[in-house]
Amino acid sequence: MSWSVVGDTVRDMSVSIRAASEVDDAVVAAFARLIPQLSSSSPAPTAADLLAIVDNPNSVLFLAEVDGALVGSLTLVFYRIPTGLKAWIEDVVVDASARGHGVGEALNLAAIAEARARGAKNVSLTSRSSREAANRLYQRLGFTPYETNLYRYSLDD
Ligand SMILES: CC(C)(COP(=O)(O)OP(=O)(O)OC[C@H]1O[C@@H](n2cnc3c(N)ncnc32)[C@H](O)[C@@H]1OP(=O)(O)O)[C@@H](O)C(=O)NCCC(=O)NCCS
Repeated sequence: MSWSVVGDTVRDMSVSIRAASEVDDAVVAAFARLIPQLSSSSPAPTAADLLAIVDNPNSVLFLAEVDGALVGSLTLVFYRIPTGLKAWIEDVVVDASARGHGVGEALNLAAIAEARARGAKNVSLTSRSSREAANRLYQRLGFTPYETNLYRYSLDD
């Protein structure tokens, strides 16, 4: 696996945030631990699923490492439309054993820095109000509620 360092931060734990550029067994195993902590309905991604994100120039798979262990992830997605470059944060998750030490904050700050560097005008995300720690974190970092109706057209059978 090779990495590019895009941001570091320390609260009471030394956290390094990196953008994955390759996918190995450690990364696949980390997502097998992390995804059930984010979604009860989504299966953990395969190596091929993760590689599709890593190889896509319009997405960045950020990984958080503490003491050599992968403890968190965030995916930043870009797309261009006539009104500009859009940046979205998705699938933010930190292992329960590492929460409350600033790992989630470090992941978000790295994503915001990358979005700024690529010229996005803003960064958007959604979070259900039942996710109390996540909503507190986003508001503490400066995300503000954006009034709109969010619609979803289900393609499930
Ligand atoms: C939301 C989440 C990513 C935050 O990660 P984190 O590394 O704990 O984030 P931080 O430490 O930077 O901040 C978390 C906040 O919870 C507080 N906290 C303290 N102890 C905590 C604990 N044991 N567990 C969770 N949060 C704790 C932190 O102090 C901080 O509060 P503040 O914002 O009022 O200061 C993590 O809780 C998580 O993975 N939750 C489950 C998945 C999820 O909801 N993802 C978000 C999808 S939108």
